[in-house]
Amino acid sequence: MATEPVKLGIIGCGNISGIYCQNAQKLEALDLVACSDLIMERAEAKAQEFNIPKAVPPAELLADPDIELVLNLTVPKAHEEVALAAIEAGKSVYNEKPLAVTREGGRRILEAAKKKGVLLGCAPDTFMGAGIQTCRKLIDDGWIGKPIGATAFFTCRGHELWHPGPEFYYEVGGGPMLDMGPYYTTALIALMGPVRRVTGSTGASFPQRTITSQPKYGKVIDVEVATHAVGVLDFAEGGIGVLMATFDVWAAELPRIEIYGTSGTLSVPDPNIFGGPVRIWLNGEWKEVPLTHGYAENGRGLGVADLACALRSGRQHRASGDMAFHVLDVMEAVEDACREGEHVVPESTCQKPAPLPLGLLPGRLD
Ligand SMILES: NC(=O)c1ccc[n+]([C@@H]2O[C@H](COP(=O)([O-])OP(=O)(O)OC[C@H]3O[C@@H](n4cnc5c(N)ncnc54)[C@H](O)[C@@H]3O)[C@@H](O)[C@H]2O)c1
Repeated sequence: MATEPVKLGIIGCGNISGIYCQNAQKLEALDLVACSDLIMERAEAKAQEFNIPKAVPPAELLADPDIELVLNLTVPKAHEEVALAAIEAGKSVYNEKPLAVTREGGRRILEAAKKKGVLLGCAPDTFMGAGIQTCRKLIDDGWIGKPIGATAFFTCRGHELWHPGPEFYYEVGGGPMLDMGPYYTTALIALMGPVRRVTGSTGASFPQRTITSQPKYGKVIDVEVATHAVGVLDFAEGGIGVLMATFDVWAAELPRIEIYGTSGTLSVPDPNIFGGPVRIWLNGEWKEVPLTHGYAENGRGLGVADLACALRSGRQHRASGDMAFHVLDVMEAVEDACREGEHVVPESTCQKPAPLPLGLLPGRLD
């Protein structure tokens, strides 16, 4: 690569950080130079495991003039505070999802980044994987005709069945929409473009949850958030979508995401992963389509590397703060529409992210 890789520091060395550390070593635009956590043993363990030169407290990482980009892998409630501190220190930032746990928080991050002249990015970047990029190419090349509708369904019966500490899923900032909605909403926007109008209904079918995982087996949790949310999304470029995110459903035989066009239907793979299968219905039959793009494996970090390329070249990055804010705005609009009993026009919009080029060399985004 002709240009210098971007020096990256990670804040938040919990469960998800391992895959980012692993992939940062494969993505040419990134040079992972430091990691950090409130619990320093976690940062030290990651530094050791992945040969990261420095494990330092968060304030020290932010004061390091060499670090240009901060990857914020803290818990959702800390996303805003950590992102704002990084921006204030003059760093570009990439947050794990959601951008923030409230629309106001998301807006504060977006405005701070614009004011400071740094770039803001946000997970998920699964839409940059082989599966959804193949779907995007099929749509752009006209295989299903003009898209007229979409469905996106995330269903499960709640994380208290398996997660060792599931309480936060039922506290403010939790719920299925903020937890899993970003994958589904981002994929819809990457395929159908921004949303111009939203309505929907939300509810909580179970006011309390009983943990059946260890070590908290038997503990009862009060539910503070909607656990069953169904939205109807009108896309600005045309087409009507249905988005359901629920922790209240035992079993379902629904697709993850489908896109309906005037001449065919596209079956989109799980938006929480990077690969396929991609299937298309045309002329009376379903067929699996070979993937047109690379990055079919767990590619968490593609969006970070894409932002790093954008920092060097001045082009737009794909997993942008603008799109993440629009995603948050749309998800919150489902709840607003239910409360207000009418359609809601999101205050935000975003550009449909550019498709990835074909034939990229492994580790590259340009
Ligand atoms: N675990 C997953 O499978 C998964 C998947 C996709 C996305 N995510 C997202 O990734 C983020 C992290 O999830 P996780 O599962 O790794 O959580 P985790 O609880 O395992 O790790 C979060 C880490 O952040 C640290 N932290 C919290 N506040 C901090 C602060 N203010 N400053 C510095 N460090 C701080 C914690 O000490 C902890 O080590 C969340 O936003 C989550 O939504 C997680």
